[in-house]
Amino acid sequence: MRRIGMLTSGGDCQALNATMRGVAKSLYNMYDDVEIIGFEDGYKGLIYANYKIMQPSDFSGILTEGGTILGTSRQPFKQMRVPDENGLDKVESMKHTYRKLKLNCLVVLGGNGSQKTANMLSEEGLNVVSLPKTIDNDLWGTEMTFGFQSAVNIATNAIDCIHTTAASHRRVFIVEVMGHKVGWLTLHAGMAGGADIILLPEIPYDINVVCEAITRRSKAGKHFSILAVAEGAISKEEAAMTKKQLKEKKKNGPVYPSVAYEIGARITEITGSEVRVTVPGHTQRGGSPCAYDRVISTRLGAEAARLIAEEQYGYMVAFRGNDIVQVPLKEVAGKLKTVDPGCAMIQEAKMVGICFGDE
Ligand code: F6P
Repeated sequence: MRRIGMLTSGGDCQALNATMRGVAKSLYNMYDDVEIIGFEDGYKGLIYANYKIMQPSDFSGILTEGGTILGTSRQPFKQMRVPDENGLDKVESMKHTYRKLKLNCLVVLGGNGSQKTANMLSEEGLNVVSLPKTIDNDLWGTEMTFGFQSAVNIATNAIDCIHTTAASHRRVFIVEVMGHKVGWLTLHAGMAGGADIILLPEIPYDINVVCEAITRRSKAGKHFSILAVAEGAISKEEAAMTKKQLKEKKKNGPVYPSVAYEIGARITEITGSEVRVTVPGHTQRGGSPCAYDRVISTRLGAEAARLIAEEQYGYMVAFRGNDIVQVPLKEVAGKLKTVDPGCAMIQEAKMVGICFGDE
């Protein structure tokens, strides 16, 4: 009997279920005697031994379902070595659950922090195979994470919807896009939605450059502008500040609900334009996965099952070119894949006139 543990960790995204289905269907097709144990709410389920024995039917009909049938939670990597409120050693507890259940392997579907924990468990001697999940696409070692393209579609749709109303009212609209500290989602949705200005964490902006772009458009007879702003966007002044100075600025300055509101206030102050802010927020992680995500999830899932069958542990399956490859977990853990400001996509965006607030 082979026993495989499975968990989904961190913020959810589309195609978590599709990916688990890919792993499970492949395993059930390869072996008659495989049992999948599903841990509830991410690493929490492994720590506190909350699990259910899955049936093949659990993985049927979930290809198109958003969310995760196992539930998820954020268990920060930094806290893993810190005992819980009852003094429980979480790492030892996870190892204990794994051994007690006589697992052959643990399958982890997660983003950056979850991959760090997966690597730690692998270094602690557990057999681990992981899969790259996140709408942020910021995982090192893979060109694409599942969830990203679905989120791009939703954020693009938000920008599309804003276009008609922005034109009718001659306003400046800001759509704030998720992505944590990286700009992949904003860059892709901004380009796909025809945003005039795109602000990314990787390219600190100058508010005067942003306002000049808006004024230039106005003078050219275009009476609206649309900005796609990453939730992690920062100004040039902020980028030059120390962490302490940034904290001081936040403490002493006006309080805004998020970065888009701050940028909006500055635009009104400088140009006199009427500005509206739209924050699609968690809608970007919701709903059914797009076709692209369903395809890569199924492929990633099948390849994860192949690694398990070949007893190749300590890897994350990844997408490169059009191939599924395996990357050692120790290479993935702790590295962020950011947008290179000099990359071809940024240059091409600039060629069609998109302003990034830097020049
Ligand atoms: O990592 C995915 C993500 O959606 C980020 O884009 C965002 O910054 C964060 O999670 C939001 O986290 P939470 O769901 O915990 O509010």
